[in-house]
Amino acid sequence: MTLGHPRVHLRQTGSTNDVARELAIAGAPHGALVTASEQTAGRGRRGRSWTAPAGRALLASVVLRDMPQLLTLRAAVAVARVCGDDAQIKWPNDVLVGDRKVAGILCETQGGEDWAIAGIGINVAVDPADFPAEIADTAGTLGLEPAAIEPLLERLLAQFAITLRMDPADITTSWNERDALRGAKVSWDGGSGTAGGIDEHGRLLVDSGVAQWALDSGEISLVRSG
Ligand code: BTN
Repeated sequence: MTLGHPRVHLRQTGSTNDVARELAIAGAPHGALVTASEQTAGRGRRGRSWTAPAGRALLASVVLRDMPQLLTLRAAVAVARVCGDDAQIKWPNDVLVGDRKVAGILCETQGGEDWAIAGIGINVAVDPADFPAEIADTAGTLGLEPAAIEPLLERLLAQFAITLRMDPADITTSWNERDALRGAKVSWDGGSGTAGGIDEHGRLLVDSGVAQWALDSGEISLVRSG
């Protein structure tokens, strides 16, 4: 099923995820798309904000009514594919190029509702000098021109339509092929160990030497990796 129809494009909005949520509640169909040139209250995971200079990032939220399992993994694989052959995914769903985060994904739903929102931000044409100081060491950009945003969006929607239909096992395989943490030391507030990919539920597998852990992204936040 194609994604991106109908589409609302806003020059400026608070958060495309919030607009998409309102449209979903009002009955927008599967695949409805909200994009913006600029967000004034862009949201990231775990209550963080997401900022990007006007007209320099792909800012998109898709309404989904068919909600397959592993939704954020499906979005991450689609985003990584359009960010390049060398793009990797850092668990649970940061997309990195050359160790820098170029894209983030925020999937949201509401208990009891039959919709989900997949919100995607990609730093397509952001000048590194414009990153806020707190993310200057970790954020990255694709280094393209603003004119590349629209073609990239088209490719992203096509890839996302593909990954939404893939078998769960193929999704975890594709995800693991781009795993940025495999073999890396990771730690969280409950332990530490060596990352070994994700399982069929999207949990990060970690071997501490004495125990195997399967970390759930809803409960665990990695505090350090290296
Ligand atoms: C993260 O890495 O923490 C997730 C960032 C998600 C940002 C995108 S930009 C489009 C959509 N609207 C939002 O407010 N957030 C997502």
